[in-house]
Amino acid sequence: MREMKHLLTMNDLSINEIMELLSDAEQFAKGEAWRPKRQHFISNLFFEPSTRTKSSFEMAERKLGLEIIPFEVSTSSVLKGETLYDTVKTLESIGVDSVVIRHSEDNYFAKLIQDGVYLSIMNAGDGCGHHPTQCLLDLLTIKQEFGQFKGLKVAIAGDIRHSRVARSNAETLRRLGAEVVFSGPEDWANIKGSGIAYEAVDTAVKTADVFMLLRIQHERHSAEMPLTKEAYLKQYGLTFERESWMKKSCIIMHPAPVNRGVEIEDALVECEKSRIFKQMENGVFARMAALKKSIEHKEGAGLNETMYTKCQIVG
Ligand code: CP
Repeated sequence: MREMKHLLTMNDLSINEIMELLSDAEQFAKGEAWRPKRQHFISNLFFEPSTRTKSSFEMAERKLGLEIIPFEVSTSSVLKGETLYDTVKTLESIGVDSVVIRHSEDNYFAKLIQDGVYLSIMNAGDGCGHHPTQCLLDLLTIKQEFGQFKGLKVAIAGDIRHSRVARSNAETLRRLGAEVVFSGPEDWANIKGSGIAYEAVDTAVKTADVFMLLRIQHERHSAEMPLTKEAYLKQYGLTFERESWMKKSCIIMHPAPVNRGVEIEDALVECEKSRIFKQMENGVFARMAALKKSIEHKEGAGLNETMYTKCQIVG
């Protein structure tokens, strides 16, 4: 595997690298331990709300023995107008090796890297852009179930237009040989240039091996949704009737948080086919694997190698 300093998008990883990360995540799921060779400081910067990603990154960091430098936007100088670049450079200056960042701006990391931050960035979700560790945990969940991706039909249904999870998963699953279809409200599933076919929910549920629902992301909508919650469930959601049409082996996924009774019937969230809480469990192992690869890069490259190079140039 090439050395992985940052994890920004799934597109940065080859198929072999993805499979290697999944293999490491499987080892972590079996209880394997790994520790960095030297003390490693990390900070979690969440500029958007999060339950799963933030807490499972923190769990992964603790399991790997990393030193967590607490950071909360609400008590930081971000409230005094500090820019993202200055926040990250500050943490870098005091000795933080890696940052996990969730931010509402698409592609926020490109500017940070262009402007010269040296520490490693783990993208925990950028606007409507990418969510690579969610994709890794979803892949791990599918692999545990089916052993492979080739030939599987994955239906992604719901608010696709605003979903970084849909983008990361659709592109990566296709590269891994799965058939991906978009479903749900046609207006939200019609993504220009995606090349992904659309299927009505009633069709997709009958043939999918994996039925992946998405949260309606009201916070990214410019106008109020014209449908009531009840009407959305009836027209596009996973109702008891649609669940009864699924293949016996089909699994139900959702990145969560779930709007219970909107995208899916409340009682189906924890039904036999559902892997929704399994996904959350796998989030810890997928993030341990991603952090391990990034730390291995840093250890291979030597302490602050890039910063030293710059000092030499300046000096
Ligand atoms: N799936 C996901 O990213 O959840 P959080 O927003 O709670 O992190």
